[in-house]
Amino acid sequence: MCGIIAYKGKRPDAASLVLKGLKKLEYRGYDSWGVAVKTDLNIVIHKKIGKIGELNIGKLKLPTSHLAMAHSRWATHGGVTDKNAHPHASCGNRVVVIHNGIIENYLQLKKALIKKGHKFVSETDTEVAAHLIEENLKKYPGKIDKAIFRHEVQRSLEQFKGRYAFLVMSEDCDSIVAARRGSPLIIGKGHDGDYFIASDIPAFLDYTNEVMYLDDDEMVVIDGGHDFIDLKTGKEIKKRIVKIEWKAQEAEKGSFLHFMIKEIMEQKETIHRAINQNEKLMKKIADAINKAFGTYFIGCGTAGKVCIAASYLFSKICKKHVNVQFGSEFPNFQHFIKKNSLLVAVSQSGETADTLEAMEVAKKKGAKLLTIVNVEGSSMDRMADLSIHIKAGPEKAVASTKATTAQLAIVTLLAYACAGRLNEGKKLLIEAASQINDMLNPRYEKHILELAEKIKNVESMYVIGRGMNYPMALESAIKLQEVSYIHAEGFAGGELKHGPIALISKGTPCIALVANDETRSDVISNAIEIKARGGFIIGVSPRREEVFDYWIRVPDAGDASPIVNIIPVQILAYQLAVLRKNNPDMPRNLAKSVTVK
Ligand code: G6P
Repeated sequence: MCGIIAYKGKRPDAASLVLKGLKKLEYRGYDSWGVAVKTDLNIVIHKKIGKIGELNIGKLKLPTSHLAMAHSRWATHGGVTDKNAHPHASCGNRVVVIHNGIIENYLQLKKALIKKGHKFVSETDTEVAAHLIEENLKKYPGKIDKAIFRHEVQRSLEQFKGRYAFLVMSEDCDSIVAARRGSPLIIGKGHDGDYFIASDIPAFLDYTNEVMYLDDDEMVVIDGGHDFIDLKTGKEIKKRIVKIEWKAQEAEKGSFLHFMIKEIMEQKETIHRAINQNEKLMKKIADAINKAFGTYFIGCGTAGKVCIAASYLFSKICKKHVNVQFGSEFPNFQHFIKKNSLLVAVSQSGETADTLEAMEVAKKKGAKLLTIVNVEGSSMDRMADLSIHIKAGPEKAVASTKATTAQLAIVTLLAYACAGRLNEGKKLLIEAASQINDMLNPRYEKHILELAEKIKNVESMYVIGRGMNYPMALESAIKLQEVSYIHAEGFAGGELKHGPIALISKGTPCIALVANDETRSDVISNAIEIKARGGFIIGVSPRREEVFDYWIRVPDAGDASPIVNIIPVQILAYQLAVLRKNNPDMPRNLAKSVTVK
């Protein structure tokens, strides 16, 4: 949700560095983009609606500079227009800001600033920040030093309610200030006084893998060196430099047309990597789950579906009831949280605002926090008492694929660990990983493409599953919606006859997710019921069943069936998106990491 990047250092090509970095962050928001470049005389701003992807940076003819910042937007306040794109400047262009998040009290601040003569040009909440800082700097005409700049930005921040990641530049100062409350910002420390500030690491991974994390209510001033400040106490703080293991090429498309298909294909290896966990840690976590007075699995979007799958896996494998809630709904259940409860936050990014809020709520109640997360060093990783890193590598397509199956592998493994059968779980998942390796071949893709060609113009699709494949029916529907824009819904097979079956007419595609377990015959019966009403049955199943009009074979993977069953649907969603001329990596209206509530 909104990509932010800045560079300050010795190189003269700051503008092109930040724009190149912004291209790598475009998965975070892509309705408009903009850049601010500081020269000796002023700050040059260029901004535009649309995607930055194909921009020829050279053609912009931006000035040489040692300090620049850029932003790609996912609109919250104000429509998608050039004027609403970031950066935003104060009236005299003295202060320029970019921002991710929401300033909740912006209307009140805006009114007061208008009374003082400030003229606003956008509909955004962000613009108030530029005007307010300019207002506070009025008493210092001309050049200002970094101490004044820092002080007045800090004073202005105190007036904002809400969540934010801010970058602030001034025409009259060579420093850049960044502050955070709720939205991620990471500082990359390059060689020779080079600094990057970004909302995600891939933005600067080509230049450095040494990072420092800005925490909530902290600010950093970059000026040839770095000063971190605790905004609550005003005191300077020391930061640890962390070395990131990701390789720059892992965050590139390589020979693939899109990140989404690259990440789907990476599932040949990612399951293996995910389950390669420290045994002691897994046993310690299993022990915490077994002892907890109530375990709550929390996630949003796809991660939320993994949480539902966890509840089935725990019930079946270790006979344990675990609670499930979407992050945004969890605060309504906080009344049940006790000191000895356990919250398990599942997330790819580790930055989703709703999941983070759930963690904060549980923490206040004294509960223990565990996270199953992809991005190491993310807010959730740092907030949790214990973390399991799923090790999927950078996931850039908005629609999650490899992170989903890695999370599924971890929750399956945990359920086995809780049953005291960790090794058995590991064996099952190693076997599934090698079956996936065999499955993901060009012939398989072609078989799914033939299906995509057949159904690419339908208006609606349905997906059914039972047991641990019910959450995968929900996840399948999300995948299809996100990238193909075909209306898709997932149901528990048994629920169909209670309403949704009324939606089936001649030729309506319906995917049946089948596992070779006790749910098999019932879900096949449900498929037969749909077929009797004219439905076109696509079976994702280890066996060919008579009811299938189109069969996509999956390995018989036992309790790893959710993992193997979701993969062909991911491929189908991708192929439908491409055939319908959608960009699967950047679906309309969506953002990869949702850092607003
Ligand atoms: C957004 C993304 C989804 C993702 C969800 C949760 O809505 O578009 O793909 O599942 O956020 O993200 P997280 O990073 O917490 O897994």
